[in-house]
Amino acid sequence: MDKFVIRGGNPLVGTVRISGAKNTALPCMAAALLTEETVVLENIPDVRDLQTMRRLLVEMGGEVELGYGRAHHRTTICTRSLNRPEAPYELVKTMRASTLVLGPLVARMGRARVSLPGGCAIGARPIDLHIKALERLGANIAQEHGYVEARAERLRGGHIVWDRISVTGTEELMMAATLAEGETVMENCAREPEVGDLASLLHRMGARIEGAGTGTIRIQGVPRLHAARHRIIPDRIEAGTFVIAGAMTGGDLIVANCEPAHIGALLQKLAEVGASLQVGQDTVRVIGNGGLKAADVNTEEYPGFPTDMQAQYMALATQAEGTSIITENIFENRFMHAQEMVRMGANIKIEGRRAIVRGKAPLSGAAVLASDLRASASLVLAALVAEGETIIDRVYHIDRGYERIEEKLRGVGAQMKRIGEMLPKKVALAPTS
Ligand code: EPU
Repeated sequence: MDKFVIRGGNPLVGTVRISGAKNTALPCMAAALLTEETVVLENIPDVRDLQTMRRLLVEMGGEVELGYGRAHHRTTICTRSLNRPEAPYELVKTMRASTLVLGPLVARMGRARVSLPGGCAIGARPIDLHIKALERLGANIAQEHGYVEARAERLRGGHIVWDRISVTGTEELMMAATLAEGETVMENCAREPEVGDLASLLHRMGARIEGAGTGTIRIQGVPRLHAARHRIIPDRIEAGTFVIAGAMTGGDLIVANCEPAHIGALLQKLAEVGASLQVGQDTVRVIGNGGLKAADVNTEEYPGFPTDMQAQYMALATQAEGTSIITENIFENRFMHAQEMVRMGANIKIEGRRAIVRGKAPLSGAAVLASDLRASASLVLAALVAEGETIIDRVYHIDRGYERIEEKLRGVGAQMKRIGEMLPKKVALAPTS
């Protein structure tokens, strides 16, 4: 298991380029299951979750080809000869988003078998709402031996009102409804940019969708979808993480190749805490002037402040003067990073869904443990301003969603190294007689 060693104290200066969005690439790869023809996706980030999705498609009988050299971020998928419409537990347990294939598989193949995801480090995360919504489209669903089995000769359009906003739920059902008979209307949908980008791919494949990116989506089912080529949008959470890194380290950082409109709530908050920002068409320049002041944050569905930026914001709040109250409204257990930051010297108290962060606290390097993807990113941020060396263990979490983060950070001045697990000390063998 790799670790990161980070020596804090360097301001980040220079330009960092943002990769494609993991959370858009995942449903777009699943969307390739909706057609026998070839789907070409550009700007796919080289992160572990997408390797998992690739493995899943291949195990089901799909052909997945990766680009080389300059086309390194291109993935070409053809699922003509799918023979095993199943997402096994081994893959679902490493990446819950594997369940995204359920809707597309039942829509195209008439059947699907997908392992139920268990709990995870950030909360319970059930998929009960996805299942209920698929039933509204006529799927017969049974659950046994830890698997969901769905069957339908052909899905038919229906009216779905989401009890609670779900990003992958909206995506999965939007995909399923593209091949259903008749019209599907979904209300209380997720409005995240990832949903809009998936809809753009589906349009290119011949789907008829209106309203993606708003609370109400209408889909007219079509008998089949066809080949398409699509470029994935930039990763707003990676962009946001780097903007915070620039602000915290007192640097002068240009976050390039991003979509500033997708991180509006974060940029507004950063302006409030006193970071100096220059927003261009696809860049954000952040000049950290050191004088950050506390501000409260409530996580909400898009366009509110994203839960996926909460941990990173907490790292920043430890360096702001005053008390910041951070309220996590999306997941019930997403404060695992707080205790690790406390071990580095932060003053954070957790009260249910609220974290009370008192700053500015001098941080000092320590050995810390990453518990999930965004928690790991927040520990990297804390380490960048800590005095001395921080060792972050279990960085496989960060590799799930950040492409070569250590190279990107080193490129703008961070002192950071990845190390493989040390081998145990060589033990002298006892002489044999
Ligand atoms: N929920 C249910 N039942 C369901 C579905 C969701 O109770 O059937 C609850 C969840 O437990 C949660 C809330 O609804 O409390 C919202 O969850 P949502 O379904 O929106 O989350 P998700 O689709 O599983 C995606 C992202 C997450 C991101 C959330 C919230 C992907 C692959 N994942 O998850 O990303 O935190 O939306 O924005 O798109 C990450 O990238 O680190 C990450 C965790």
